[in-house]
Amino acid sequence: MDLWQKYNCNACHQVYGLGGYLGPDLTNVYSKRGPEYIAAFLKSGTQIMPNFHLTDEEVKSLNAYFEIMDKTGKSDPRTYKVNNDGTIE
Ligand code: HEC
Repeated sequence: MDLWQKYNCNACHQVYGLGGYLGPDLTNVYSKRGPEYIAAFLKSGTQIMPNFHLTDEEVKSLNAYFEIMDKTGKSDPRTYKVNNDGTIE
């Protein structure tokens, strides 16, 4: 994801369990918060998270990224079931 790298979101956030620890893990932020919340959040920033002055296009592609990641990854490995033979469900 180019924007993720361009704005260095990774410095503060984890996705798929990788990245910085200052901000929350964002792997499942899409189902947890929804696209409207994320868009509003990215547009305004907080005291800790900078406002990157993203365009609507950029917010849209970041949301698309979060949506795909939400479907393909889980931020908390404890939600997996580990079988006796070592495989994971
Ligand atoms: C300087 C560190 C920093 C950077 C860089 C950063 N964030 Fe954050 N982000 C935070 C912090 C800290 C929070 C938690 C809110 C707070 O405490 O202000 C947060 C919260 C969020 C949330 C809301 C999560 C939730 O569950 O409410 C989203 C979405 C998010 N960031 C996306 C991004 C994206 C996308 C980028 C890159 C464009 C980015 N962040 C870059 C620090 C950062």
